[in-house]
Amino acid sequence: MVSQFAGKTVFVSGGTSGINLGIAQHFAREGANVFVISRDSAKVEAAVAGLRALGAQADGLSADVRQFDQVKGALDQCAQTFGPIDILVSGAAGNFLAKAENISSNGFRAVMEIDVLGTHHVMSAAFPHLRKPGACILNISAPQGSVAMVGQAHVCAAKSGIDMLTRALALEWGPYGIRVNSVSPGPIADTEGQKRLVPNPAAVQERIDAIPLRRMGSLTDVSDLCLFLASDKAAYITGTVIPVDGGTTLNPTPTRMGQFLED
Ligand code: NAP
Ligand code: COA
Repeated sequence: MVSQFAGKTVFVSGGTSGINLGIAQHFAREGANVFVISRDSAKVEAAVAGLRALGAQADGLSADVRQFDQVKGALDQCAQTFGPIDILVSGAAGNFLAKAENISSNGFRAVMEIDVLGTHHVMSAAFPHLRKPGACILNISAPQGSVAMVGQAHVCAAKSGIDMLTRALALEWGPYGIRVNSVSPGPIADTEGQKRLVPNPAAVQERIDAIPLRRMGSLTDVSDLCLFLASDKAAYITGTVIPVDGGTTLNPTPTRMGQFLED
């Protein structure tokens, strides 16, 4: 059976590693045409080669989501190559573990600009190219968007900002037939994000013990939710923040990450 995603255009910001690359690969396997961006051109090249090896038409560009002109250039090129954008994934993000009093102005700004301003850049530059009606936007959030966590003040501010952008744009763009949702993964195994939040391998089991489903998530767990949200079966879902986190937000151990922080 031909996949409903065959020939669709998918754009993924930060789509060159980890969770976002997993999402890009999932759509590629379904026959979609995929365009990825991130800062590091070597990562872009490797990701595009990997997507093509899956049989997809794929392309990419090196771009910093903090720079509107670079984001616009990438979205223009994506639409020129593959046509109107059906699925837009905003996944570029920055994170590090630090107590609030140790986060410099520049450090706070870096995360806010990559996550919140970057998501605005991706959505606003994509708007002229989005298929109307029918486009689906997926903003990659995190439990920090809903639950306060020690060492994560900047990320809590940024991800909750992304979730409000999701709701605001679902409201504004619903009449065009554009759906906007946040996907909120819990701890996903073998990712950069987890390495940064649980830098001590001995503490990984403790992290797992606090997850109601007693395991870290996989790239497939997240990608399957993205596929569902982009499908016809989710045609009436917009403006939501959907966790794929094994119940992490029910038992978020908000202070425990503080153990990795120096006084
Ligand atoms: P990752 O591999 O580091 O992915 C981040 C991606 O964003 C990379 O491709 C990076 O590539 C790109 N990026 C960073 N800054 C950028 C910028 N200024 N402009 C353009 N691209 C930029 O990390 P990950 O752990 O898979 O995280 C992926 C997403 O999932 C993030 O939104 C994260 O917040 C979310 N998340 C992760 C977890 C987890 O357990 N890992 C849990 C919840 C949510 P370059 O370095 O080449 O720019
Ligand atoms: N603790 C405290 N501050 C930190 C820090 C840490 N662990 N890591 C970086 N910073 C600060 C820097 O000191 C700098 O502030 P300063 O100029 O006052 O010294 C500021 O953050 C910006 O750092 P810089 O490396 O210049 O920024 P960048 O724009 O190149 O990188 C980051 C942005 C810091 C978010 C970087 O970690 C990054 O590129 N991350 C992308 C990948 C990622 O985070 N993946 C996981 C996603 S969940």
